[in-house]
Amino acid sequence: MKLNLRFLYIFFILTVISCKSTAPFAYPLQKSAVADQGMIVTAHPLASDIGLEILKKGGNAVDAAIAVQYALAVVLPVAGNIGGGGFMVVRMADGTTNTLDFREKAPGKASRDMYLDDQKEVIPRLSIDGHLAAGVPGTVAGMAAAFDRYSQLKDFKTLIDPAIKLAQDGFAITQQQADGLNRSREAFIKLNTNTPAFVKKTAWKAGDLLIQTELAETLTRIRNQGTAGFYEGKTADLIVAEMKAGGGIISYQDLKDYEAIWRQPLESTYKEYTIISMPPPSSGGLALSQLLKMVAPYPLREYGFQSAEAIHVMAEAERRVYADRAMYLGDADFVTVPIRSLMNDAYLTNRMADFDPDKANDSRMIGAGLVTPVESEETTHFCVVDPAGNAVSLTTTLNGGYGSKTVVSGAGFLLNNEMDDFSAKPGVPNMFGLIGNEANAIEPGKRMLSSMTPTIVTKNNETYMVLGTPGGSTIITSVFQTILNVIEFDKPLSEAVSLGRFHHQWKPDAIQLDELIKLSPDVEKNLIQKGHHLKQRGNFGRVEAILKQADGRWEGAADVRGDDDARGF
Ligand code: DON
Repeated sequence: MKLNLRFLYIFFILTVISCKSTAPFAYPLQKSAVADQGMIVTAHPLASDIGLEILKKGGNAVDAAIAVQYALAVVLPVAGNIGGGGFMVVRMADGTTNTLDFREKAPGKASRDMYLDDQKEVIPRLSIDGHLAAGVPGTVAGMAAAFDRYSQLKDFKTLIDPAIKLAQDGFAITQQQADGLNRSREAFIKLNTNTPAFVKKTAWKAGDLLIQTELAETLTRIRNQGTAGFYEGKTADLIVAEMKAGGGIISYQDLKDYEAIWRQPLESTYKEYTIISMPPPSSGGLALSQLLKMVAPYPLREYGFQSAEAIHVMAEAERRVYADRAMYLGDADFVTVPIRSLMNDAYLTNRMADFDPDKANDSRMIGAGLVTPVESEETTHFCVVDPAGNAVSLTTTLNGGYGSKTVVSGAGFLLNNEMDDFSAKPGVPNMFGLIGNEANAIEPGKRMLSSMTPTIVTKNNETYMVLGTPGGSTIITSVFQTILNVIEFDKPLSEAVSLGRFHHQWKPDAIQLDELIKLSPDVEKNLIQKGHHLKQRGNFGRVEAILKQADGRWEGAADVRGDDDARGF
């Protein structure tokens, strides 16, 4: 394996970003790597290492993904999880594809108006903080389903043991993690019946050891009993007791009933590329393919990277796609999602019919398109490619940073606050400003709509690119831009994942700009003249990606926005 030269450039950016901190400790990150055999890109170097070891032991990409998911549940408590859920997209070397839905579900006692007061107004933060915000976790069932179907090692203990050891022995936290834990200290105290491992007397600093003994015990039960070690027995007792103590509603029955589901991938084409992504209950795959199809007729390459013309047409496509999302998208097991109509070429052409190259549309005038129904601040993404060419793209989440911030007492893991991804009331924005409708209303057993977009792109029938990101509502547009950065704007992968990004989500009616974007004054002026509102905000997304190089080797790249890390062999 050799480090890509662009590492130096990325290292420079990282240094600039972190210059305010006096961090005495840091893992040596590999933001970019090239390798012949296998490649792993995750949000934490310890997790990347664990995945790589599994590949070296002869595990395939799915084995490595399972080991990484459990490792992240320990070393990335802000988003890695066993108390949350996610989506996995798989493409095996033989060309077969699959997706795994291990999204959380609404508990059986959930109800449509559960977050509304007597006046039918949304009660602030009830779907975000604490016990009532949690959906029934799906991660453990998901990893078991992935293991049963695809494991090559056939030895689950080897996959979970490294995570147990890290929880037991502890690991040194990074500056970013210390900052995150310190910021959430008050919330952890307020939202927990017992003091969790994430709270200590003095402020956390980089290099401190985070030891999670109770989490190690839970992981050991999963190791020894499989899914029963989580959804039944002692862990289930602890979850239900936590619910009783804090006014939550997850029951034994909810835990027993939880199942991860294999779903047919959502496939579409962009020029000579095939896009393989996640179907509902994620909106990600559908929205991504709508976006790519809508901009395909426009000469983006000629317009140039982040030119006013390119940003304009991409933002206008985004405006329309997020309007459709709000109206039509939800859990297809519960509501009819008109997937085919929404992806139909004629529909998408018509959707862009009122696009004016000189003028921004107005979100008040853009409703959802008319289709004939024929038929949500922290998450983490990782990518794996193994020596045989099998690929996994996996996004997993607790929803907000540290989820509901409630830790199951005695079991040591954080519960998600994924219930906020439902539409608590039509038209009222959730924590990501996303608006939903009937299709995403709360029902018992239903999965809340997601924006997670784990994606694999193929070219000439071979895996070409594996990518995804956290970022709530911005996930879709970050994946969209990263693909175009490579395919249309010829950006090297390390830049494609890290360059500044923009985002439009219909409402609010603004092009949101992240901190790393550098638009020239002319481009900004041009966009404003067209009628766009530009809004600066914090960084969004932490894109991880793997790309097949022309010489057949794998290039991995990790976003400069975090502790993310790429390594291969
Ligand atoms: O499923 C979703 O779309 C959200 N729960 C994802 C949340 C997220 O990405 C927050 N991260 N920054």
